[in-house]
Order: sequence, then structure tokens, then C-alpha cells
Amino acid sequence: MKIRNIDIDFSTAKVFWTPQTPEFAQFWNATSSYLPYLEPFLNKVVRKASMQLSDDDVQLREDCRIFIAQEGQHYRNHAKFNALLRESGYPELHKREAVMQADYERFFEEKSLKWCLAYAEGFETLGPILACYFLEAARELNNSDVDDPTADLWRWHLAEEYEHRHVCNYLFERLYPGYWYRIYGILFAGPHMLSYMIRTTLHLLREDYRTGRIRDPWRSRLRLAGVQFRMFRYLIPRLIKAMLPSYDPMNLPVPERSMEVLAEAERNWARKKRGE
Ligand SMILES: [Fe+2]
Ligand SMILES: [Fe+2]
Repeated sequence: MKIRNIDIDFSTAKVFWTPQTPEFAQFWNATSSYLPYLEPFLNKVVRKASMQLSDDDVQLREDCRIFIAQEGQHYRNHAKFNALLRESGYPELHKREAVMQADYERFFEEKSLKWCLAYAEGFETLGPILACYFLEAARELNNSDVDDPTADLWRWHLAEEYEHRHVCNYLFERLYPGYWYRIYGILFAGPHMLSYMIRTTLHLLREDYRTGRIRDPWRSRLRLAGVQFRMFRYLIPRLIKAMLPSYDPMNLPVPERSMEVLAEAERNWARKKRGE
């Protein structure tokens, strides 16, 4: 695990960064839209929880520090992309985001640390599964016309989600050992996030139909059904496995190309120092 200082230039980015399947891009755009609220919440929770670790837990403390820095890099880059998305003609999107922002503020203020950490672990359980899906299985990315900074944003982000996959899990296990509460976290966080992601995808696509950016809504709906079906067919069995008592995120196989993706991100998108 390491901290990569990444600053992606989205000046050439397109909203439909998978041109043949704009529905795929819009699903990930919808996902991007709430990350600048979710990931700061994760960081506050991990920071607070890590302060309760014993002094001897040197490695996990250090992993928490890197986790927080990585998530910070993620949401700052997503916020840059999201500004471009909003400017591209989705005037109501900020209202949807505001609901998630308020939820995360409320969770942190009103819920217990155990609850918040279980939520964080719920998200972090999905992270490496989504990483494997995106890096290995999503056929929408295989087309030669997928060449966009936003695809790089997701490859780098998800490869780091895989890299820090154990942090929330081990932290939860250290502070609140036990099986069922972790499952509760997954069962609360999963639907809370996925319903936002899916409803916001539909919202973005409705705007595209209304403005004529996508000209054939029925074809688009069929493509969306295919995108979602293939994704959930991949995710669901892996998520069930991740809910078994024997689950240890460190045992998950490395997604293909993830080390390459991380090296490429540093090569192509490392933050430039002033005056360079
Ligand atoms: Fe992240
Ligand atoms: Fe993460």
C-alpha cells in the first residue's frame, strides 16, 4: 500500500466515456456523484476508530493512515469530474447529491462509531468486488473507442480500493469482533448506496432522453438492462461469498492488470509540482 498523489486532467473528458454504451458511463457517473460525500465520511470514521487501536497495532495504524490519504485522493479527483458532469447539463443532479450529503452528515453525528464502521466496512466489502468487475469483466471497456481520463480515474480508484480492502474489515474486527453486525453493515450500506446509484443513473439518462443526447430511449433502456444484468450477475455471488464467516479480504485474488493500472496512473496523472 502506498499514497499516490494523483491529479487527473479532465479537460478532454466526455460524459459518455464509453461511447457505444453511454448507459455504462452514466452508471459510473452516477456513482462518482456521491463519492465526495461518502469518502470523507469513511475517512472521519476510520480516523476516529483508528485512535482506539492499541499502540502496538503499528501496522494497522499505518494502513489506516494510508487508507485516509488514498480516499482523499479519490474524492478530490471525483469532485473535479463531477463539476464537469454538472456543467454538461444535469441541472437537478445537485439536489440528489444533497440527500446523500445530509445522510452521511447525519450518520456521523447521530449513529454510534460501531454503526458507522459497519457501514464503512459494507462499502469496503463491495470495493474490491467492483474493482475485479471493472478491471477484468466489464466488456463495455474493451471497445477501442474507450480512451478517456474518466476510465483512468475509475481504474486507478478501484485498483486502490482493492489495495486497501482489508483496512475497514480488520479495524472492525479489532474493535467490534463478531459476525452478525458486519453483515448488518453490508445489508444496510449496500441497498442505501445501490439505490442511489441506480436511481441517479435513471435520472441522468432521463435528462439525456429529454435533451436528445440519446436519441433512441428504448434501445438505451435495453442496453441499460444488459449493463445492469451483467454487472449484478458478477457481483451477487461474490458478495454472498464475502458474507461468509471465513471471509478475509486479504485472500481475494489480485485483479488482472491492477499493478499495471497503478503504475500507469502515477506515470500519466501524478500531480505536477509548481513550476513544472
Ligand atoms: Fe475510494
Ligand atoms: Fe476505499
